[in-house]
Amino acid sequence: MPETAAAPDIVTCRGERFRLYLSEDEIQTRILELGERIAADYADVGVPILIGVLNGAFMFTADLMRAIPADSEVDFYKLSSYGESKVSSGQVTELKEVDAKLEGRHVIVVEDIVDTGLSMKYVIDQIQTRNPASLRAATLLRKPDAAKVEVRVDYVGFDIDNLFVIGYGMDYGQLARNLRAIYILDREAE
Ligand code: IMP
Repeated sequence: MPETAAAPDIVTCRGERFRLYLSEDEIQTRILELGERIAADYADVGVPILIGVLNGAFMFTADLMRAIPADSEVDFYKLSSYGESKVSSGQVTELKEVDAKLEGRHVIVVEDIVDTGLSMKYVIDQIQTRNPASLRAATLLRKPDAAKVEVRVDYVGFDIDNLFVIGYGMDYGQLARNLRAIYILDREAE
């Protein structure tokens, strides 16, 4: 495998400083654990379909699917993003529905991060109307202190501080999604 450059401790995005928070290794190790758990949970249930929530969850969805050592399917749902803000607008707008037939399926909604919880709740409520056989949720990150609505998440990678993060699919004004590690806004630099 080609070697990848070590992740820097500090990155700058749109003029703001972010510091390394979760390394590529920590992220991938945790995703492997989640994949094993999902495989075990669905072994006697059926083939799950992962519904990745775009854009932020595209990377996590791909890695989670590869971490599940059993059959799974994938499709995507697209919601509007934060734009260039670091604060959730509270407005969730649907930009692309799921194409796959979900009735009778075992659905796992896959989010990059649950912040206020509004997006996850919106997607879960929408998918519920399509009569899946079962419906669970997975997220790589969750900010417990930012929750505005209660939403049950069955597979959580990491509970994190209530600060803005970038990298590993998550953006700041559409940038920084390419970073392999996750960076958090540097408080001292705020
Ligand atoms: P929520 O609806 O407030 O839970 O926010 C969900 C969506 O907002 C996530 O799927 C992300 O796309 C985005 N988001 C929330 N927090 C962050 C963050 O710290 N960095 C980047 N994007 C975020």
